[in-house]
Amino acid sequence: MTEGRPDTFNSDSPPSGAANTEPAAVRSLRLTDFRCYQALDLSLDVSPVVLFGENGAGKTNLLEAISFLSPGRGMRSAGADGVARKAGIDRAKEWAVFAEVETKFGEYRLGVGAREGGRRTNRIDGDPAQQGALARILPMIWLTPAQDRLFAGPRADRLKFFDRLVYAADPAHADAASAYEKTRVRRQRLLDEGRTDPAWLDAIEIEMAGHGVAMASARLDALARLQAEIDRRDGGVFPQAELSLDGAVEVDMAEGLMAGEAEDRFAAALYEGRQRDAIVGRTLTRGPHRTELVARHRGKDQAAADCSTGEQKALILTLALAQGRVLAGQGGAAPLLLLDEACAHLDQIRREGLAREICDSGSQTWMTGVERSLFEAFDNRAQFLKVNQAQVESF
Ligand SMILES: Nc1ncnc2c1ncn2[C@@H]1O[C@H](COP(=O)(O)OP(=O)(O)OP(=O)(O)O)[C@@H](O)[C@H]1O
Ligand SMILES: [Mg+2]
Repeated sequence: MTEGRPDTFNSDSPPSGAANTEPAAVRSLRLTDFRCYQALDLSLDVSPVVLFGENGAGKTNLLEAISFLSPGRGMRSAGADGVARKAGIDRAKEWAVFAEVETKFGEYRLGVGAREGGRRTNRIDGDPAQQGALARILPMIWLTPAQDRLFAGPRADRLKFFDRLVYAADPAHADAASAYEKTRVRRQRLLDEGRTDPAWLDAIEIEMAGHGVAMASARLDALARLQAEIDRRDGGVFPQAELSLDGAVEVDMAEGLMAGEAEDRFAAALYEGRQRDAIVGRTLTRGPHRTELVARHRGKDQAAADCSTGEQKALILTLALAQGRVLAGQGGAAPLLLLDEACAHLDQIRREGLAREICDSGSQTWMTGVERSLFEAFDNRAQFLKVNQAQVESF
């Protein structure tokens, strides 16, 4: 269907289209010299996709290729210059991922690739496009095995994961976050170099405060919707989470400070923190770059970090699945879900619960696992693809 299909996605405004939810799905996928794939051509239907096969078969590489159809450095953070196919000491000079996707806004042909040492290029229906435009067409949420113990790991990884959930709902958040980071680095460099021209620093800090407040506000908004969706679902096999954001600006705003006041307060904190940040060579002043995503397991009334590995995996799935429902429900595009090692650490009850949730969700989910039997709860409701030495066949 093409109702509501925007003429262009190269604008800041998200598409506004039909109110009903259509599944987002990759209908065909073509890889050229991407990781272990010299050439791969797949046709798919809209149902969940299970990729199974031995270690090193090429399952994660396939998910990673899809992740490049969204902004950024891909789900392994490898970047466009880190994924070209290598064979011995030879390295392909360019790589490409091409997909035909179906979304509620219509059908699109998305192409991403890079030449040796070059930046990635993006095309939508053959025309050059900005990365943000891809996110507006095909929002994506992914989970990697490295995130299975996200709640017990470094704060920055948790924040990065949460920010990606926010981007999926609000692509402008990615722009604010990148503008914030650029100004933060600029200010820190001036302080490190002892170039403390007050007028210059004042201007940078005011700009940084503006981007920081925009980020905090987008995060709070996304968190409120996500928490409401989690609260709405009780009694499933995935535990309820209680989430909050512990960050100077987020707390100010959650307590009712208006955006302008929050900006002034943050800019004042940056001003006061100049000397300390210069001495330590890091932005210790508390701002959106140092925010902590605090998560608790509601049923156990326990910090997520203290939960078992399987409980943490179930909690992170709670967040990803709930965010998927939020996006589908708010009239936007339902996000594609990429779950690498989807069933790792999950017992049979939770594997069955995952199959139910995914079959009910409005969009195509891609999952990997070493054994087909891990996904038997999907029965005939998924397309099973066997991956073997970079070859993929229906099974
Ligand atoms: N740039 C590259 N060029 C060629 N091969 C690569 C490249 N990068 C990684 N590989 C290889 O691709 C193969 C498949 O990797 P992938 O991570 O997709 O395996 P997997 O099926 O997910 O395995 P596992 O079950 O162990 O997670 C590996 O042997 C890996 O070393
Ligand atoms: Mg893998």
